[in-house]
Amino acid sequence: AAVRGLSTTAQLSKINNVTIIGAGLMGSGIAQVSANAKLNVTVVDSNQSALEKAQKGIASSLQRVAKKKHADDSAAQSALVSSVLDRIKMSTNVSDSVKDADLVIEAIVENIDIKRKLFAEVEAAAKPTTLITTNTSSLRLADIGLNLKDKTRFGGLHFFNPVPMMKLLEVVRHDDTSDATFEQLIEYGKTVGKTTVACKDTPGFIVNRLLVPYMFEALRMYERGDASMPDIDVAMKLGAGYPMGPFELSDYVGLDTCKFIMDGWHKQYPDEVAFKPSPLLDSLVDAGKTGRKSGEGFYKYK
Ligand code: NAI
Repeated sequence: AAVRGLSTTAQLSKINNVTIIGAGLMGSGIAQVSANAKLNVTVVDSNQSALEKAQKGIASSLQRVAKKKHADDSAAQSALVSSVLDRIKMSTNVSDSVKDADLVIEAIVENIDIKRKLFAEVEAAAKPTTLITTNTSSLRLADIGLNLKDKTRFGGLHFFNPVPMMKLLEVVRHDDTSDATFEQLIEYGKTVGKTTVACKDTPGFIVNRLLVPYMFEALRMYERGDASMPDIDVAMKLGAGYPMGPFELSDYVGLDTCKFIMDGWHKQYPDEVAFKPSPLLDSLVDAGKTGRKSGEGFYKYK
């Protein structure tokens, strides 16, 4: 089959050097699994203290893995931790950090304008063969990549939190992603030990498209007075075998995040009933009750 989109001169190189932009919750996890797979990793963040926090977070996460693997051997534990950490460089400079990258993974704030600006900078500084990807949860790839000159090397790598634990990677292709790019992204996913699924550039891809409307449907059930929150949570855990009920899950994800995702989709698809916002959720977020992280959401936390 013809390789769609990819110019014949631009041969994609094997992925050795990965640059991750955004050293938050997701970026640090992606860095850890990539370095653990013996890839050379550079993590970039505009905020120096985010880099320091990421470094510490990765070290303690690796320490837990090392303790499990080499229970009574502290020398083997530190060897494992440092062998992975040694593969991770930290930087605050985007252009320098993407120059040698075979793959760039963006994991910065979920803001379309900031992402577009970043991708312009990445494309200008990267090699003509570098694969450029986003870890976005809720934005359209077509929108994020609107101004890219070569859209054939652009795709999505959607990881799940916590990255080292969650086995799934959604590999996303938009209309212009080439077959060669897509195959390389799947290959990268396998290299970092994930099970990959193929997704198109549709809201929420597979997991969040099913999960987020389900969480809102639970809210609507409660708002109608059909069942209590604890009963809905117990029912879904014991009846459907889910590890958390929808309200527990929403508090874990963050009610502000749930609202942000749904509001974005609702704006794009105002007639889709599955994407209808919830007044109760809106009022909790307005009151600063964003879930576990704030100490209160649907439930209270100590
Ligand atoms: P976070 O807030 O923990 O980290 C974002 C980091 O990006 C911060 O350290 C910030 O300093 C940095 N940053 C912001 N603008 C930047 C710029 N222009 N250049 C360089 N660094 C910049 O965010 P989190 O939760 O890690 O999410 C990142 C991305 O991953 C978002 O697109 C989000 O939708 C997506 N995502 C989040 C998941 C989650 O469970 N939190 C799950 C899957 C995807």
